[in-house]
Amino acid sequence: MCGIIGYIGERQAQSILLNCMARLEYRGYDSSGIALSSTNIEVYKDAVRVNELVKALPKIDGIAGIGHTRWATHGEPSQVNAHPHCDCTGNIAVVHNGVIHNYQKLKEQLSQEGHKFVSETDTEVIPHLIEKHYQGNLEEALEATLHEIEGSYAIAAITANEPKLVVARKDSPLIIGLGDRENFIASDVPAILDYTNRVIYLEDGDVAVIRKDEVSIKNDGTEVAKKEHQISWTVEDAQKGGYEHFMLKEIHEQPKVIRDTLGEYISLAEPIANFSALSGQPLEDMLLVACGTSYHAALVGKYIIEELVRIPARVELASELSYTQQPLARTGIVAITQSGETADTLNAMRRLKGAGKKVIVINNVVSSSASRIADQTIYVRAGPEISVAATKSFTAQLMALYWLALSYSKVDISRLDSLVMELRQLPRKVQQILDNAEEIAECARYLAKYENVFFIGRGINFPVALEGALKLKEVSYIHAEGYSAGELKHGPFALLGINTPVIAIATQDNTYQTMLTNIKEVKARKSPLIALAEEENGVIGELADLVISVPKIDAVFSPVTNAVALQLLAYYTAKQRGCPIDTPKNLAKSVTVE
Ligand code: G6P
Repeated sequence: MCGIIGYIGERQAQSILLNCMARLEYRGYDSSGIALSSTNIEVYKDAVRVNELVKALPKIDGIAGIGHTRWATHGEPSQVNAHPHCDCTGNIAVVHNGVIHNYQKLKEQLSQEGHKFVSETDTEVIPHLIEKHYQGNLEEALEATLHEIEGSYAIAAITANEPKLVVARKDSPLIIGLGDRENFIASDVPAILDYTNRVIYLEDGDVAVIRKDEVSIKNDGTEVAKKEHQISWTVEDAQKGGYEHFMLKEIHEQPKVIRDTLGEYISLAEPIANFSALSGQPLEDMLLVACGTSYHAALVGKYIIEELVRIPARVELASELSYTQQPLARTGIVAITQSGETADTLNAMRRLKGAGKKVIVINNVVSSSASRIADQTIYVRAGPEISVAATKSFTAQLMALYWLALSYSKVDISRLDSLVMELRQLPRKVQQILDNAEEIAECARYLAKYENVFFIGRGINFPVALEGALKLKEVSYIHAEGYSAGELKHGPFALLGINTPVIAIATQDNTYQTMLTNIKEVKARKSPLIALAEEENGVIGELADLVISVPKIDAVFSPVTNAVALQLLAYYTAKQRGCPIDTPKNLAKSVTVE
């Protein structure tokens, strides 16, 4: 959350920075700003999105600069609170992602020393501390500053006196992009893909000096070797590719994501893997930890593991893990995070590691913080996910969980064979749903006029009901709640009626008959009902007001097909309501604060 960008080279920095910032906007978009260095530092910023900043800006000269897209933590979105922030002289500019915990104390001290503050942000202490320590060398001043601040940060600083960018990282992501007589810094890879695919991932404690033709990195005062990585993601991966929104593009990429993730890991002839982080003692149970949509993938994972591996699985929200019992010695632990940077998930992983546990992480971003903490990483092959609402990463996470469960599965060989056969069919079945988008769009047009919706599911599709509700609320702003169908009568029934539609996931597994009863109960309370039902299900057609048909598949894989249908439902509902689908208000893709 919050996006940082920086450029130094031979070209005019302004348009490059703005272009990169537009690509980084999914990290936060309540304000944006740039600082350019020429004979002096020029700062332009406001509580506006990047496209509006572009329109408002005059042409500013400068071949070095920094930029920022903000997700407010300290102080409302406003012109003064937007980054970059400057020192008293206006000669030092800083952008920051993270939280400075001791900023109040530092602000008081600096104020007593005569520094004038204009914003409510924690960040503003950084340029003032740099100013205080500056004796002609920006990196030395930044290093002295880092000794005084506590918290998490990716920081980039410039001064008109020196032709360089100086950056530091602790617990917030930052990369260096390497070009030809130009270099970049960014919070994330997609921001700079237009210019380069050669990157260096900074580690915690790194302080780097970036010139147009030279990069040097120190950690704890010692020069560290630069390890260059070639990024396989392409510019096209991070563009809309003809789709109106990233969310729609990413939904449509799912057959490929399934194929890529399966192809990477699962030899369909022998779907067995060796997870070093789980080896040693026989597994007695599993603990899965995650946030947001990844948490819903973890909940589906619980059912997958319990059905295929036949051991109990427990799922905890990462932010709640510290309040719960530590896992046992023979518990296999899996953290799930698309970005690999979610603060709550990272903290939960550190806590588990601190207690001597081994942790596997299911992650979509190479060299993320999560994969550095984990003992083992399962990279999913979702490619860059730009829309704030997670879609293809959820499906890819499920693929990793199927792989893990199949590797430890205790089902008999004929069941294993049939599961593998079904897995082969999954991309085609997901494609069938995508081809059926018009039916779903019609349901969306019907749904769009309501303000409260319940999603119900049972068994392995209960978490899919939670995810369906999350998708709908985040992109369409309709209040939506996911419920186990059995729980609906324990409270939410009081809200049912003609203005409260219910979306029921009616997969034909061992939950089906009870779900039919639940659907009848809902209809008896006059709620409009949309059912997700397998094709050729005549019974549901008679009960439901509208039906979204999904292809028949082994129930253990039905969360994939059902989730894709509900993603499309959320997308088209949001579109009907004219919402900013890829960047919903107040949200951010990567939440790097607790
Ligand atoms: C944010 C995003 C969600 C995501 C959650 C967890 O809230 O908006 O889409 O599911 O973070 O992110 P992670 O990167 O850990 O999966």
